[in-house]
Amino acid sequence: MDRIELNKAEHFKGEFSPTPDKSISHRAVICASLAKGKSIIRNFLKAEDPMSTLHAFRALGVDIDDRGEDILVNGKGIHGLRESSDVIDCGNSGTTIRLLSGVLSGNPFFSVLSGDSSLRKRPMARVIEPLSRMGAEILARAENRYPPLAIKGGSLQAITYSIPVASAQVKSSLILAGLYASGETVITEPAKSRDHTERMLPAFGAEIAVNGLRVSIKSGTELQGTDVYVPGDFSSAAFFIVGALLIKNADITITGVGINPTRTGLLGVLKEMGADIEISRIREVSGEPLADIHCSGGAALKAVSITKEKIPALIDEFPILCVAATQAAGITTIRGAEELRIKESDRIRSMATELRKMGAEAEEFEDGLNIKGRSSLKGSEIESYGDHRIAMAMAIAGLVAEGTTTIHGVSSVNISFPGFFQHLRKLTL
Ligand code: S3P
Repeated sequence: MDRIELNKAEHFKGEFSPTPDKSISHRAVICASLAKGKSIIRNFLKAEDPMSTLHAFRALGVDIDDRGEDILVNGKGIHGLRESSDVIDCGNSGTTIRLLSGVLSGNPFFSVLSGDSSLRKRPMARVIEPLSRMGAEILARAENRYPPLAIKGGSLQAITYSIPVASAQVKSSLILAGLYASGETVITEPAKSRDHTERMLPAFGAEIAVNGLRVSIKSGTELQGTDVYVPGDFSSAAFFIVGALLIKNADITITGVGINPTRTGLLGVLKEMGADIEISRIREVSGEPLADIHCSGGAALKAVSITKEKIPALIDEFPILCVAATQAAGITTIRGAEELRIKESDRIRSMATELRKMGAEAEEFEDGLNIKGRSSLKGSEIESYGDHRIAMAMAIAGLVAEGTTTIHGVSSVNISFPGFFQHLRKLTL
């Protein structure tokens, strides 16, 4: 049965490492597949989304050996991919389809990319337009807007492009296409989105320069295989951080969490709300900062106001931030977040609807939400909309609510965090 029952938690204690980072796992497979020679990816996230990327590169002829936690990739260089004999299934993964579109635009063969019913509703014009300008032939459903995508790559020309929305998927897609384009590709984003691609590619030998919001990439260098260690996923840790803050007497330590500043906007917001969070043992591995995070419960939280410029660094933490807001004194306002309507589900609608079922007061806007805090949540029947982050955020709400909460569609957590509920159970025992 694809559902789980949760009750109010009296206990939330322990030390653990979160699952490996999803965004970095995707990029490690992509970079290693495009490099010449052997790369070992350590601490790879074996969840459905990064596995979609791994299977896609196997379908494109890359030799990838799954050795448990480590993945061994024997790449043949950026021109070493071959045409897949079938449609490439990107599953639920926006990162797979958009980043792969960039790679395949530079390859002179035919590819078809598709995915599940959620992915087939996600906008692709944002990558199709600039990639077509670079010289790729791309056709898509519904007047070139939605997957499936059919791509015939070719000889690309570098472009100078301003991305209309802050999106690491669009930026990364164009960086990857830039590896194949003649000349220097220059991309400017309106606000800083996650920069894992720019951090990782130079270790494989790519020539990339970053200057504030501007990224430029020169083609012509062969990528060479190297080893990559994937840090713990801050976005997965976020559910436990907020859980600890909302449960009285909670005390948890999460070790080896990635704290790349383009990802950790939630920490600043929670501290502004009055949260008790300590960061220690900051170190760097494979070009990414990581640390241990300690948090304890019981502090009285207060509402905050979040505006557009803060959204990119907490884009995936919106669902769990909404749960924190239900327990903070005052009205929390989140605006400038219209991108959330086109994620794995319409996350503004999903969170407003499900939190209201539990008794919270939420007012929906096209670009965000107002949430009135200090609500006493009550156990309810909750829908995940097949969206992993909605299922996990609402599970944390279930630990704070009086009575029993049943979450339907919990297998969606396998997209980014297999074992989430077992982990949660251990901390609450
Ligand atoms: C991601 C970028 C973000 C994020 C997604 C992962 C990535 O999407 O929401 O979960 O790995 O590049 P957008 O690029 O659409 O903002």
